[in-house]
Amino acid sequence: MPDLDPITRAQPPGPPTTPTAPATKTLYGRENDLALLEHLLDQARHGRGGALSISGGAGLGKSTLLAAADRSARRRAMTVLSALGVESESHLPFAGLHQLLLPLRADAVRLEPRQRHALRAAFGLEDTAPDLFGIALATLELLSEAAGRTPVLLIADDTHWLDRPTQDVLAFVARRLGADPVVVLTASRTETPDPHSGAGHEHLRLRALDDDDAGALLDSCSPRLAPATRALVLA
Ligand SMILES: Nc1ncnc2c1ncn2[C@@H]1O[C@H](COP(=O)(O)OP(=O)(O)OP(=O)(O)O)[C@@H](O)[C@H]1O
Ligand SMILES: [Mg+2]
Repeated sequence: MPDLDPITRAQPPGPPTTPTAPATKTLYGRENDLALLEHLLDQARHGRGGALSISGGAGLGKSTLLAAADRSARRRAMTVLSALGVESESHLPFAGLHQLLLPLRADAVRLEPRQRHALRAAFGLEDTAPDLFGIALATLELLSEAAGRTPVLLIADDTHWLDRPTQDVLAFVARRLGADPVVVLTASRTETPDPHSGAGHEHLRLRALDDDDAGALLDSCSPRLAPATRALVLA
């Protein structure tokens, strides 16, 4: 199995890196989903970008999958940029983008002045009003620049709570990947296609675990449940 598999691979030292990353533990029934993520990271190693949006209900394992991708990307020495949508910041324009691009702030000096100003305006560092298109172009350029050094994995979790301008920029970027080794992974609770879907953009709708995997997961947490209780919890 690919080196995304958190069961079989040793983890690097240090705390989880994705904002919501649950602690590493056995992941049941997600082999195909992990393989899909691994495939995207492989493509990046060969110079091709890609985007995948994951959707599914609460607790289905979206953040857990993103955390596995994060670990795998770091093992591949990729640059990982991540942001977590939170309800309290969802009305703050570009708050999510600020989180995502913070590790690249030193690179912004290499952008053309027009693009540098666009980003500075987005983050309230200039008096001019933010120009969404200019900001999206500048973001793409910044990512492309970074990907010229090492492939980039961009992770946005809980995108349903990301501010709308950040969602728009992500959608713009995700549709223009291809020549640059940048992988965009997003996860959201929404069941309807989010603005990130579109041409060249894959969508993974997480399904509930099947009975065997759900049973194995439950047994790993609560091995001594009475059969009737176990059946009730699984149902
Ligand atoms: N396939 C799985 N195998 C083992 N544990 C799992 C699996 N899927 C989810 N879990 C566990 O269930 C819990 C919830 O998972 P996670 O936080 O990834 O869900 P989520 O889809 O991101 O939920 P939310 O919509 O609330 O953000 C975590 O403790 C996680 O480790
Ligand atoms: Mg989550």
